[in-house]
Amino acid sequence: MAGLPPIASRRDFMRTASGAALAVAASGVPSPSQAAPGKRRYAIVGTGHRASGMWGKQLLTRHPDAVEVVGLCDINPLRAEAARELIGVSCLTFTSFEKMCDETRPELLMVTTVDAEHARYIVAALERGIQVITEKPMIVDEVQCQAVLDAEKRTGRRIVVAFNYRYSPKHRKVKELLASGAIGRVTSVDFSWYLDVYHGADYFRRWHRLRAKGGTLFVHKATHHFDLMNWWLDADPVQVFASGDLKRYGAQGAFRHTHCRTCPFKERCQFHFDMTKDPRLMRLYADCESADGYHRDGCVFREDVDIFDTMSALVRYSNDVTMAYSVNAFMPFEGHRVAFNGELGRLEMRDYERQPWDVEPETEIVLVRSFGKRERIPIEKGEGGHAGGDNALYQAIFGGAEVPSHMRLPGSRAGALSCLTGIAARKSVDEQRPVRISELVRL
Ligand SMILES: NC(=O)c1ccc[n+]([C@@H]2O[C@H](COP(=O)([O-])OP(=O)(O)OC[C@H]3O[C@@H](n4cnc5c(N)ncnc54)[C@H](O)[C@@H]3O)[C@@H](O)[C@H]2O)c1
Repeated sequence: MAGLPPIASRRDFMRTASGAALAVAASGVPSPSQAAPGKRRYAIVGTGHRASGMWGKQLLTRHPDAVEVVGLCDINPLRAEAARELIGVSCLTFTSFEKMCDETRPELLMVTTVDAEHARYIVAALERGIQVITEKPMIVDEVQCQAVLDAEKRTGRRIVVAFNYRYSPKHRKVKELLASGAIGRVTSVDFSWYLDVYHGADYFRRWHRLRAKGGTLFVHKATHHFDLMNWWLDADPVQVFASGDLKRYGAQGAFRHTHCRTCPFKERCQFHFDMTKDPRLMRLYADCESADGYHRDGCVFREDVDIFDTMSALVRYSNDVTMAYSVNAFMPFEGHRVAFNGELGRLEMRDYERQPWDVEPETEIVLVRSFGKRERIPIEKGEGGHAGGDNALYQAIFGGAEVPSHMRLPGSRAGALSCLTGIAARKSVDEQRPVRISELVRL
């Protein structure tokens, strides 16, 4: 079993990569008959961009029979209203999670708040017997990690972590090639992620610029990359030694303001971002500023930026592989390059997401066999967000079809280990020493 079984025949569980059965129903949770026939009672906490798009409007469009949205909760009541409008539903909105659960009795909760708040909603929902899907990163520090793992043990329930990157055809292809033994035993990996002056800069405009909210890009962003690597290698991280600096954004700027719309430097700032051209962003954020003062077009040069824009890490895995990893957040192009060195050859992937020159195709996977030939590997093109990962993830969760074991839904172990790699990296920068994963939590 891969995803959520249909309600008519469901036995109240779903299965994760670990093979664990996930309880959906528990005492106190409404019976399925209280939802529209065949649909799960579905609530979302944190109703911003990801909630209203991927886990709201798009989900209802692609899988209209999967869920019925019964409640939307956000600390910003105006944004909860805006999300309801954008999703196109007529459910109740809340600022209190407890009130939402009491009044709407969801069966399934989607957690899409800012990163630092995921853990407390995951734990609260598990305690109430509600099935949880959380956006990445599952947690931002080791204390939250232990709380989520302990809550699962205590309640006997398992969560799903929405690792869409695993589901894009190009990343699946890498997994399949490595598992087939194409390069023999992997010995080391080079992995570089390039965030450009548009997408990379966007992290420094928003709440992500504060480590208290997103745990630094070593956690917020790299959880995707570290999860891919754990999955690709079929191994756990053991030790991390890292460096991190802030070289371009934050206090590095020659001038600054609060946000772009009212900025006196807009004519000369290359990072000026005009969100007034995007009606969706205006509705979701500008129209809601009176409630929380949050600026979606915040200045990338604000002095409170306390995350890194230049990061590298050396990670050692349980199968003795070492990975040299880097993320840079002000590159002239966007994409990534990963290369696996193996005893029988080398597997390389170069992903070209955006660059000031023409590239065909967008993703290139090349297999070079030692003493042999170079072979270009064909890749199916994914449709929709995140190179097809978003649509394939819906299918894995709501489609109900059998999938190979390596495509089963990721759970808390994957959520934890990917974040712990980043948490260890952050700690390594702070304390200038290698950090072992086993120092952080009891898995
Ligand atoms: N898997 C992916 O590819 C992907 C892509 C984008 C975002 N995400 C994840 O989705 C989550 C949301 O990101 P986003 O881009 O929608 O951000 P966003 O800023 O648009 O939305 C976050 C929302 O959380 C709300 N919030 C903050 N604290 C809260 C609290 N204590 N209780 C309830 N609501 C609270 C904010 O008011 C805001 O509406 C993040 O965790 C992010 O990492 C994942």
